[in-house]
Amino acid sequence: MRLFLSISLLFITVLCYSQEKANYNELKIPEYTLPDPLLLHDGTPVNNVTTWKKIRRPEIIGLFEENVYGKLPGELNISSYEVIEESHEALNNTAIRKQVLLKFRKQDKELEVNMLIYLPKNIDKAPLFLSYNFNGNHTITKEKEIFITKSWVFNDEKTGINDHKASGASRGVRNNRWDLEKIISAGYGLATIYYGEIDPDKNDFSDGIHPFFYAKNQKRPADHEWGSISAWAWGLTKAMDYFEKDSDIHQEKVVVMGHSRLGKTSLWAGAMDERFALVISNNSGCGGAALSRREIGETVKRMNTSFPHWCCKNYDAYNENVNALPVDQHMLIALIAPRPVYIASAAEDKWADPKGEFLSGYYATPVYELFGKKGITSIQMPKVNQPIQNTIGYHIRTGKHDVTEYDWEQYIKFANKHLKK
Ligand code: GCU
Repeated sequence: MRLFLSISLLFITVLCYSQEKANYNELKIPEYTLPDPLLLHDGTPVNNVTTWKKIRRPEIIGLFEENVYGKLPGELNISSYEVIEESHEALNNTAIRKQVLLKFRKQDKELEVNMLIYLPKNIDKAPLFLSYNFNGNHTITKEKEIFITKSWVFNDEKTGINDHKASGASRGVRNNRWDLEKIISAGYGLATIYYGEIDPDKNDFSDGIHPFFYAKNQKRPADHEWGSISAWAWGLTKAMDYFEKDSDIHQEKVVVMGHSRLGKTSLWAGAMDERFALVISNNSGCGGAALSRREIGETVKRMNTSFPHWCCKNYDAYNENVNALPVDQHMLIALIAPRPVYIASAAEDKWADPKGEFLSGYYATPVYELFGKKGITSIQMPKVNQPIQNTIGYHIRTGKHDVTEYDWEQYIKFANKHLKK
């Protein structure tokens, strides 16, 4: 009896494990048909830019809002902003640094958001990369003037954070991901915000910006309302509101860039807010550039289970049936048309499904072509470290899930090509 029980237990464990284990085999991808970005709800083909802009684009945005990321439940403007620190001798005297405090107020609530901006000297209005950081503004460089975030952060053994509070010990720990020297010397600025100041990255809707939008007694977003990705995307659009007020920044040349979960966020922000001139997704994977229907590496179910607060509740309905989704992620890329978009993968980042990231660029191409723009014209993935830089850009580089010097080099080239005309 005991032996039987142990064998059954072993069997159940193996079964659960194999169910949980991600698939990395192309041959095991279920058959799928992608929804056509160029067919209206009623089946009419979209064959001109006006129909795309007036009807199909809003339809697709509505589908992503309702089924994937959730709708922003209202409007809220920046209540006040102030440059709280400034230097013209930053980064060894090569750049201007500004730290701007944005405040959001509603009734008795107030949220403070710190933006760190570096700008090249001697450029009147600088084009700029806007990108969230994962661990606090003070982690992107060692400059001791950078304010340390007071918001909730992840605990981290390496930097000794065990009470969710950042400290000076993590100054500069992520500077490898921010090639400031290259960015500034190429004539670009960089603006960054710690994403947790907009909404701490945990399954808790009582903090961050969410409560500002609740009706009386509401405790969490309704099933079709925003999860954290939409809230973070909203934060990026507020950064853009600020740039419109800062005469040192070229508001028509703002690039929104993000890595991983923040790459998902930059795509969604870039899709919704057409003020972003160029959009970059670095290793954004599932819920970002990767096609959901391939179910390779991270799946929608896996993401919704591990990170239930990222998307809206309605998305869970597709966990077992991604084919029923009225959208797939190529349509998110298509929403950015005709603006340039760059999708970057890493060869060892199988979890993010590099091929699925590439294919969404490929399948978004007909929408770019409607505008007379060149997207990705071959279904064959390029070799590693051989970027494509049409209006849709793509590369797969050697190495892991990360943001590297190589990535920044390509982003600067791409921005030079498309924004410096
Ligand atoms: C996890 C998650 C991914 C996400 C990544 C990140 O790996 O499964 O969806 O992109 O974290 O943000 O680093």
